[in-house]
Amino acid sequence: MTKQSQTLTPLEAAAAMAELAQQIAHHDALYHQKDAPDISDAEYDTLRERYRALREAFPHLAPQDDPEKKVGAAPAAGFSKVTHSVPMLSLNNAFTDEDVADFVTRIRKFLNLPDAEPLAFMAEPKIDGLSASLRYERGRLTQAATRGDGTTGENITANARTIRNVPHELRAPFPDVVDIRGEIYLNRHDFMTLNATREAEGEPVFANPRNAAAGSVRQLDSSITAARPLKFFAYALGERTAQASDWPTQQSLRRQLAAWGFDLNEPSRLCADTAELLGYYHELEERRHALPFDIDGVVYKLDRADWQERLGFVSRAPRWAIAHKFAAEQAETKLLQIIIQVGRTGALTPVAVLEPVTVGGVVVSRATLHNEDEIARKDIREGDVVKIQRAGDVIPQVVEVDLKQRAAESVPYSFPDHCPECGSLAVREDGMAVRRCTGGLICPAQAVERLGHFVSRNAFNIEGLGDQRVRELWQDKLLASPAAIFRLHEHREALAKREGWGEKSVAKLLDAIEARRVMPLDRFIFALGIRQVGEATAKLLAKHYRSLAAWRDAMLAAHDEESEAWRDLTSIDQIGPLVARDIVAFFGESHNLSVLDELTREVNAQDAANVATTETPLTGKTIVFTGTLTGMSRAEAKAKAESLGATVAGSVSKKTDYVVVGEDAGTKAAKAKDLGVTVLSEAEWTALAESPPPRGEG
Ligand code: IVH
Repeated sequence: MTKQSQTLTPLEAAAAMAELAQQIAHHDALYHQKDAPDISDAEYDTLRERYRALREAFPHLAPQDDPEKKVGAAPAAGFSKVTHSVPMLSLNNAFTDEDVADFVTRIRKFLNLPDAEPLAFMAEPKIDGLSASLRYERGRLTQAATRGDGTTGENITANARTIRNVPHELRAPFPDVVDIRGEIYLNRHDFMTLNATREAEGEPVFANPRNAAAGSVRQLDSSITAARPLKFFAYALGERTAQASDWPTQQSLRRQLAAWGFDLNEPSRLCADTAELLGYYHELEERRHALPFDIDGVVYKLDRADWQERLGFVSRAPRWAIAHKFAAEQAETKLLQIIIQVGRTGALTPVAVLEPVTVGGVVVSRATLHNEDEIARKDIREGDVVKIQRAGDVIPQVVEVDLKQRAAESVPYSFPDHCPECGSLAVREDGMAVRRCTGGLICPAQAVERLGHFVSRNAFNIEGLGDQRVRELWQDKLLASPAAIFRLHEHREALAKREGWGEKSVAKLLDAIEARRVMPLDRFIFALGIRQVGEATAKLLAKHYRSLAAWRDAMLAAHDEESEAWRDLTSIDQIGPLVARDIVAFFGESHNLSVLDELTREVNAQDAANVATTETPLTGKTIVFTGTLTGMSRAEAKAKAESLGATVAGSVSKKTDYVVVGEDAGTKAAKAKDLGVTVLSEAEWTALAESPPPRGEG
């Protein structure tokens, strides 16, 4: 029996509250971040109630991490998943006028437009909300999903139906199937009313309208969502059975969205050039606080749909649109302490622990300090009063120190030359800004970060294995290497007995692991966490080498920088000698090879060729472009070739399949002939590339 709150001494109450707060935070994390709750809804509610009772009796003893102050009471089960048939993209950001001018220039160049050719851009407010995709089949709303990671989102159909300005039926005429993309948001006024009500009822308030919208949409009980005054703006399409050319411009698409019954994000404007875009931006920046909703910038979209299609995407963002963000918001606060975090490649990153301060509606208590030189350059010291800023989703930064407020006894910060996690020497290589721990795999921080990277969303994406669990299991020697993840099933019973785990959550985790025994080669490569090998580079490598075995052999051979293997590696467009050296260095370490070999006994890395969805005459071919192309820019030709499954290389080798020769071609054409590689004229290339490109969001 637990004692009634009234009969507890203050000391007992404080201890009980701290303990409960910790448990609640633990279960919140299991639910929200790991999607793997291990207690029932009712059990969770009991914890919350016990805490609330204590807090009412001893309000002054509430711990720092007071769960009552946190946003979004966590429901107990998850949403089902929805795979987007057309991925939901994000946008690249522009921060300066120059970034915008570059965006316009890039488009002109890519499309090879003469200077006299007029351009048109649709400029729209960028609403700070939660993006969603609404699917209409024969005009009826059949499914709604959040963006998620862009490929898979959460099924929020029931909740979306409660949003007042989301039509349940489209006004005719409409295509058989159409996905409407847009933003779910809250007006500022509605947000404040909502928070005032919550405060009056003793409920935690939301930090900003975006959080409030997200928290409201993620309610499992849609009657709660219905009680929130959410709204929806439409701005793009996903899958549709109609032809793109039905809406030749963004402007005509907007008219269509309005005709179907959607609200649009206004004020929008058609702009012809950089000057007009910037004019719109500055006007909106002025008026921003007079708008009924929060915006964090504006979005520029090239108006013509056929040009959008030609421009296509890079990674997850279209080339034809950009978000121009408003300037960062700043605040002053005290820097309490500088702590050092150790990353997966051993990099020591300094982080400022701040006295919590509100910047642009969000409470900030940490800021990045980048590296040793940055601290020295700005002479940042513990105890200083500093100006911090945050821009959009960027991690807050320390801008400068207020020297007038510096304490007399303050001393310059001295950066550690040993790893704070494992005590190994931390060194700076010549010319590098970063100091790295030399502890390698004996360093717990590096080992845990690497494992964390391995299981992260864009790598192996193993749900239920968050940072905390990885750390615990690593410490208990159950996860010495990535391969050990696939042997966790041998410890099923022991795992289920661990505190905070339980049989159900272990079963879910082991299922998630089993589902990852086959992995596309590019994700497999990315997961290895090789320095400088991000998703894009991993894709290039997978495409170029096709199989894990071929890649492994080639990287071992490339150790010799005179070898054909090295030349082949560095001939891959966008892989220069620095990146190549990091990749080769990874294979130069015997423990990495054993990690890799151990892993291949557990996981089947799918050959890249088998992953491609549609075969084209260019699938798997390596192409080199040389000379000036007249019909399209080099960038467009490259993007086109890649969209058809080819790899574009920078230099000709025996592995080249085609060399496309434009005007004034130089030595590469001659080299191609020498090596017996097929040479194509621009016209022949255009004919070869003439199948339609895959369609994206627009
Ligand atoms: S267009 C392919 N237009 O901003 C283009 N996005 O930072 C897809 N957003 O994921 C997006 N207002 O959630 C577009 N007027 C607007 C927007 C907007 C807000 C969001 C959207 C997107 C994110 C990218």
